[in-house]
Amino acid sequence: MQDFKNKVAVITGAANGIGLDIAKTLIRQGCHVVVSDIHQKDAQARAEQLEAMPDAKASAIAIACDVTDMAQINALADKAWAHFGHVDALFNNAGVGAGMGPAVKTKDADLRWVFEVNFFGNWNTCMEFTRRFTEQGTPAHICNTASENSIGWPAPYMAGYNATKAAVLGYTGMLRMELPEPISISLLCPGWTQTEIANSGALRPEAYGGPKPVRETQIEGDVTPYAVETVGAHTIEQIKQGAFYIFPHYAARHLAEERNDEISAAFDAQQTDVDDWPSHDTRTYLTHMIAAAQAKKDN
Ligand SMILES: NC(=O)c1ccc[n+]([C@@H]2O[C@H](COP(=O)([O-])OP(=O)(O)OC[C@H]3O[C@@H](n4cnc5c(N)ncnc54)[C@H](O)[C@@H]3O)[C@@H](O)[C@H]2O)c1
Repeated sequence: MQDFKNKVAVITGAANGIGLDIAKTLIRQGCHVVVSDIHQKDAQARAEQLEAMPDAKASAIAIACDVTDMAQINALADKAWAHFGHVDALFNNAGVGAGMGPAVKTKDADLRWVFEVNFFGNWNTCMEFTRRFTEQGTPAHICNTASENSIGWPAPYMAGYNATKAAVLGYTGMLRMELPEPISISLLCPGWTQTEIANSGALRPEAYGGPKPVRETQIEGDVTPYAVETVGAHTIEQIKQGAFYIFPHYAARHLAEERNDEISAAFDAQQTDVDDWPSHDTRTYLTHMIAAAQAKKDN
């Protein structure tokens, strides 16, 4: 998507943090925004603030949606299409952190909650909008918010959260290859950003143990999170440039490199019969399989 002017974007988890910064960038570029969040009141207030920005060049409406509920995802899409007549982009951004602690002490309820929002919520929203974009048939873009954790940022004491973000990377990469022509997709991988995420426990539903007390963010040493304003404009610019991986922050680059180097080194150290690998290449195998299935469908 090279231009967002006069387009319509739905942003989940947009009442705060990264989603809100994306909304600000879009409305400045003349893109109408649907501010969606589990909190209707906050979403409504943000939509009004967005429209009141002196440099706003489009409209904003609020639609509540808890992304863990398929019926609410459907209602979000129904209402967005009914209001604007078309939707051109989904920023699939809602996410929570379940706190920090050793993996072995992770509570089952916390792990299920963080997967419910960060993975199943993300997947279900993505698939519902993909179906509707396909039916609409016009160019559309999906931006899935993952994390620097997705590409191997070593974050001990956040194992469950990391697993959800690796899962988002896993399926988004496959969808990239499966999507029909007019639909493009990107993976937003922010670094550590100053937002409300440390307090997302306050939203934990009763089914997963209920709200957790608000936690002060304690920053020790001379590291600080990136400002949230570093994310929105960068993300939109990269989508326009056609990037799949969107990295607003440079700090994780060396960690990605270290991980990739370790993987390559392990292959090289463990394998000797390197010449026959093309005959075991599953990518080639799958390409043949997909082509055969397509040919069968076409006949
Ligand atoms: N802040 C970071 O350091 C960081 C880094 C990488 C990735 N991310 C990801 O960025 C995304 C946005 O997080 P943020 O840091 O802006 O946090 P945030 O807490 O400031 O904003 C997240 C928003 O999501 C909403 N939300 C929570 N559960 C929801 C649900 N079930 N349905 C709909 N909305 C829900 C919250 O109400 C909140 O407004 C998340 O996917 C997060 O995992 C954050």
